[in-house]
Amino acid sequence: MLVYYILTLIISYVWADGVSFQREQPVCPPGWLAWQDACYILLPDKMNWWQAKTVCDRPGSSLVVPDSQEEQDFIWREMRSRMEKIVGNSTTKLQLWIGCTDFDNTGLLTCIGVQGRPGFTKWSKGNPHTDEGQDCIRMDQKYEGRWGDSGCNAKHFGACEMRVSRRLYCLQADADGRFTPQCLLNHEIKNLTAAGVIGCGQACWAEPRCHSFNLWQKGDDKKVCQLNNASSIEADPAFLKKVESCNFFDL
Ligand SMILES: *[C@@H]1O[C@H](CO)[C@@H](O)[C@H](O)[C@H]1NC(C)=O
Ligand SMILES: *[C@@H]1O[C@H](CO)[C@@H](O)[C@H](O)[C@H]1NC(C)=O
Ligand SMILES: *[C@@H]1O[C@H](CO)[C@@H](O)[C@H](O)[C@H]1NC(C)=O
Repeated sequence: MLVYYILTLIISYVWADGVSFQREQPVCPPGWLAWQDACYILLPDKMNWWQAKTVCDRPGSSLVVPDSQEEQDFIWREMRSRMEKIVGNSTTKLQLWIGCTDFDNTGLLTCIGVQGRPGFTKWSKGNPHTDEGQDCIRMDQKYEGRWGDSGCNAKHFGACEMRVSRRLYCLQADADGRFTPQCLLNHEIKNLTAAGVIGCGQACWAEPRCHSFNLWQKGDDKKVCQLNNASSIEADPAFLKKVESCNFFDL
């Protein structure tokens, strides 16, 4: 019986998102760019490496770590054009923090989420420096996006990368194990016209205040994704109401 429910869940989630297996692009939250199995976003303000790391650091997301030439090219092309829209194309202004550091001053990098040394690096000529105080790595317009190391307190742009997992969200079942259409009311932070449960779940993930979400079916193929500021445990149960054509998911 349990297996049956789990299967039903997986099938209904795949169906709910309209995701087919041929599809190449992940569903990304609004503002994020899809590329292969991940979503990317430019941080719109310059900040030091530590701040950029902190901003990107959420479940499933971190400062970008390019680990192939293709990913390097994608990130630099897209983020460069976005940085240019903010500060113009002066070579001195376009630098992008990535999630790699050289705190042991050996020139060998440590990158977020990478075991051991990274398999891909893209140093520009004259880099890395092995002196103290040049410990954080950036892509630099001066070197056409190749990497240089600089002081971690320099203020640069940064980009976050979120790995897309086809993770399952918890639908609320009643005592018989059936799913009743219900939603958490009066806690919404935001309404989005996102695709289905995976897209809505990722949008919730990317929003720090979001603890759960409602997915409303409006008409035949329109869905509204509502991000909530409380989970079903945090909220007063009186707000968890049976509503036709609405499903509730805890993050
Ligand atoms: C930089 O921008 C200026 C005007 O905005 C343009 O004329 C120039 O060709 C650009 N340079 C590069 C290298 O894109
Ligand atoms: C959650 O959002 C509702 C409005 O939708 C608001 O009234 C409430 O104060 C918020 N609660 C918290 C903990 O932010
Ligand atoms: C979301 O939409 C509902 C109805 O569709 C509306 O009552 C509510 O105010 C909206 N919430 C926000 C935060 O825009």
